[in-house]
Amino acid sequence: MKNETVQDRLARPLRDLRISVTDRCNFRCIYCMPRHKFGARHQFLPRRELLSYEEIARVARAFVALGVRKLRITGGEPLVRHELERLVRYLAEIPGAADLSLTTNASRLTPEKARILRNAGLQRITVSLDALDDRTFMAINDVGVPVAQVLEGIENAEAAGLAPIKVNMVVKRGVNEHSILPMARFFHGTGHILRFIEYMDVGQSNGWRLNDVFPGSEIVEKIHAELPIEPVDPNYPGEVAKRWRYLDGGGEIGVISSVTQPFCGSCARARLSAKGTLYTCLFATSGYDLRHQIREARASDEQLRRYLTSLWRKRQDRYSQIRADNTIQLPKIEMSYIGG
Ligand code: GTP
Ligand code: 5AD
Ligand code: SF4
Ligand code: SF4
Repeated sequence: MKNETVQDRLARPLRDLRISVTDRCNFRCIYCMPRHKFGARHQFLPRRELLSYEEIARVARAFVALGVRKLRITGGEPLVRHELERLVRYLAEIPGAADLSLTTNASRLTPEKARILRNAGLQRITVSLDALDDRTFMAINDVGVPVAQVLEGIENAEAAGLAPIKVNMVVKRGVNEHSILPMARFFHGTGHILRFIEYMDVGQSNGWRLNDVFPGSEIVEKIHAELPIEPVDPNYPGEVAKRWRYLDGGGEIGVISSVTQPFCGSCARARLSAKGTLYTCLFATSGYDLRHQIREARASDEQLRRYLTSLWRKRQDRYSQIRADNTIQLPKIEMSYIGG
């Protein structure tokens, strides 16, 4: 297979492609799809606008030829899209794509669905869960899904062999910081990797304020005081989560401090939206229309690779490092659209 290494203007390679398969979700998390913006009148993408699984696989193959090794399926909530296992099978068949994972809220991850996804070639999943008590969790998801339903999804994934499972907890000050220790205690010793994520100013809907951010350093202090931890080296260059290990052998946690300690310097991630627009930063205000390239312009595989190479070569995004009052106001794409 042809294999090039392409670098952007800041000498960052292209290693990681995150694929959003839908802009829809059955949750209305207050920090992602707040109900006042994503209510009954919100226009989601019509089906014909979405890339087909065949089209996504074609784009993914071109990325792998340019050096991508990690593929992650995201949304919205990817499990609301029909027969996701078909896409999983296509992606798992791409030689060279070493890591295939899925980010989900797990509310629809039945034992059967977990097995089907595993059999199709999915390697692991990351589950979003922000609290362990229903009051807090339902206040965040805003659709009345109880914690037990997500925990069942996690168990189903484990039983199907989708491991290691990572659990993402977005921490918003005044909303769920009281859940930090209960979450740490609960997942300690389970083999699942709990990651704490600083609340970010993605999109324009969530009314983000710096005061709402609970810094990663304080999360580490809180946990260390009760369950002593020590830092661990990254699994791979550019890993977004700082890893920590419990001294008592209870496993590891991760802390993603994208606001207080940005990691743009090593960012090798590209994001493909459900309608086939490519974004080179989570905070991008515009992207590249790959659907047009493959549908109307009928680009050959070679032309597609050349197009992707040229756009990556001119990339110079580093939003989190240059975040300022005037950048927070920019018309950024919503998280549910661009994919986490
Ligand atoms: P693995 O290491 O492959 O398990 O995944 P990951 O660490 O990339 O984690 P995941 O995809 O679950 O992302 C965790 C969170 O980190 C996301 O939900 C985002 O909130 C944040 N994140 C991931 N990538 C970026 C990025 O490029 N920029 C910023 N600012 N945040 C990111
Ligand atoms: N800040 C930080 N993380 C967020 N996520 C969604 N919106 C935000 C935000 N504003 C997280 C979700 C999920 C991942 C894909 O991104 O909880 O775990
Ligand atoms: Fe849905 Fe995930 Fe956004 Fe919550 S964070 S609304 S589960 S896409
Ligand atoms: Fe990458 Fe943009 Fe996130 Fe920086 S802000 S790490 S460039 S996605």
